[in-house]
Order: sequence, then structure tokens, then C-alpha cells
Amino acid sequence: MNQPTELRTNLLAWYDQHKRSLFWREHPTPYYVWLSEIMLQQTRVEAVVDYFDRFIKEVPNIETLAKIKEDKLLKLWEGLGYYNRAKNLQKAAKIIVQKYHGKVPDNNEDLITLPGIGSYTAGAILSIAYHQNYPAVDGNVLRVIARINGKKVDITNQNVKKEISKETKKLVIDRPGDVNQALMDLGATICLPHGMPKCESCPIRTYCRAYDTKTMLEIPIKKPKKEKKQEERTVLV
Ligand code: ADE
Repeated sequence: MNQPTELRTNLLAWYDQHKRSLFWREHPTPYYVWLSEIMLQQTRVEAVVDYFDRFIKEVPNIETLAKIKEDKLLKLWEGLGYYNRAKNLQKAAKIIVQKYHGKVPDNNEDLITLPGIGSYTAGAILSIAYHQNYPAVDGNVLRVIARINGKKVDITNQNVKKEISKETKKLVIDRPGDVNQALMDLGATICLPHGMPKCESCPIRTYCRAYDTKTMLEIPIKKPKKEKKQEERTVLV
């Protein structure tokens, strides 16, 4: 990555001006950040806003989440789908109450042992709620960083993900939660997939190797499809 310091400065200036105003951003408690990240896993920001609002009115804290009846919990989740997310949320809440005195752990080792929390969600909680220098690399961030580096890579590949995570770490010094969310917003609104990036509006295009070499439409590369095997069979009827 070229000039990560300047890139970060421009990215944050853009975020300060254009960031989407979201309740959990204005009130980044560990519970709100955790809950919002779980809701956002398979669902768009616009769709999550109302559900989030309704949820925290009924379930204002982790103790209530640990105790709520499952049918009531699933009712609150109705419409969001992927109900395992809600079930894991409650399993994790029970562990947090029993083992961590109701406080969401503030370290990666403990966080990733909780049901439903992987390295992305742990990174989001640590950076946004606890201001620790952790990257939170989702699909949008993978695409943005792959393009910045101008690497024609398959972002579903585990080694590529690790490499991009390392690169993102270079940017999450100081205001780590904002840097992570700026990259997410950039990926969701400007550095779009499927041949539609809006590079002319991008605040960091001068640091982007893909923009420089006009290769943004080739990055990320699509996972090569497995060749279909042709087999000849004789069927006796
Ligand atoms: N997608 C997942 N988490 C997000 C966040 N905190 N901000 C914006 N988009 C997101």
C-alpha cells in the first residue's frame, strides 16, 4: 500500500463528511456494536435500522437478552431471517452474564470463543466499541483493499483474506473504529462491485493502484469455476 498515512487522512475526512448516521454509531456501546454487527451480517444497513430500534426497546441490555424467552426473541427477529444469528446471540449473552459479569469481553481471545463471533465481528467490537487497533474486514473491505493494492486476487481465498487483513491493519492506527467503518461505507457506496465503481467520487483514488492502472473492473477476480466433468453413462431401461 502506498502512503497509508495520507490515504487514512483523506479517508477519515471523507467519512466525517459523508458517514451514514446510525444509532449504534452515535452510541457505540459494546452491546449496541455487537448487536448491530450480528444484524448486519446478512442484511443491508437500511433494512437493519428499524429492527435495531425495536430490538433495543424490548431488549435494552445483555442481562435481558440472556433471560428473554426464545419465542419472544425469535418474534423480534422475524423478517431478518437467519435465525441462528439470534439463537447464538442469546447463547453468547448467557456466557457473558455468567463468565464475564455481563461485560462484553474487550479482548480478541475471549471474543472469538463466543457463539456467532468470528474474527470480523471481534474486530468490529474491539475497534468501534473499545478503540483498539483491530481491522474488521468484511466483503466490502476486502474489495476496497484489493483494489487499492491493485492485486488481481480472489477475495474468497483464505490466504488472500489474511494478507488483506494484514494490509488493513496498517490503516487502523488511531480512530480504528472510524477507519474500519469508513472502509465499509466506501465499499458500500463508492467502491462498488460488478463493474460499477464510482471512482470519480472516491476520496482515495490517488492512492489506488487499480485506479492508476485502470484495472478496477478486474479486481477482485472471480473465483475460477470448477470445470464440469463430462461423463458418459449407459442407462438400461
Ligand atoms: N456493515 C457491517 N457493519 C457495518 C458498520 N458498522 N457500518 C457500516 N456498514 C456495516
